[in-house]
Amino acid sequence: MKQQHACSVAHSAVREQVYLVFPNDLNANDTVFGGMIMAQMDRLCAVVADRHAGGVTVTVSVDAVHFMAPARRGDVLMMHAAVNRAWHSSMEVGCKVEAEAVGGGPRRHILSAYFTFVALDADGCPRPVPALAPETADEKRRYTEADLRRQARLQHAEQLKQLRAQARA
Ligand SMILES: CC(C)(COP(=O)(O)OP(=O)(O)OC[C@H]1O[C@@H](n2cnc3c(N)ncnc32)[C@H](O)[C@@H]1OP(=O)(O)O)[C@@H](O)C(=O)NCCC(=O)NCCS
Repeated sequence: MKQQHACSVAHSAVREQVYLVFPNDLNANDTVFGGMIMAQMDRLCAVVADRHAGGVTVTVSVDAVHFMAPARRGDVLMMHAAVNRAWHSSMEVGCKVEAEAVGGGPRRHILSAYFTFVALDADGCPRPVPALAPETADEKRRYTEADLRRQARLQHAEQLKQLRAQARA
């Protein structure tokens, strides 16, 4: 396989993706339905991961989803997503969502989450992706932290696999 050049974060990142909240986005509590926001995040992160990988990727895991503040009717959601780190065939994409009231005003942090995507080849098998070359201090911090999260994710997935195998035995 041809050696791939490392890509910058800016090569694939998306900032200030806006989504205007309408009444059909609300739950019974009159705040924005969380599942709708998560779907928007997954779509945005998929675009970022596809750009970094230069082809099709799929979501394999999502972690650290915590809704910190509600978004409301008429709010504008602002979403930002960027690759934090790439390994062999997988990448972690960080996504942050903020909300701004209609007409402007201070931004509220609604939630952040980490999405892991895997690049697939034409046969649907994992394929290598370019490394990430972090440049700014924030990018380097996220790059280092992403490896800790990966270790926890994979350890957790392995532990679950073993428990289920034991339960079946
Ligand atoms: C993504 C998928 C092809 C990976 O298959 P797999 O058999 O686990 O493949 P591998 O063991 O070779 O792992 C591939 C990569 O995924 C990573 N991975 C696998 N399971 C993971 C998990 N639970 N969390 C994070 N990363 C994971 C591995 O660490 C590996 O990364 P690396 O190559 O960078 O080291 C497979 O799990 C799949 O098809 N999942 C469904 C994806 C999908 O359809 N998503 C859309 C939602 S319906």
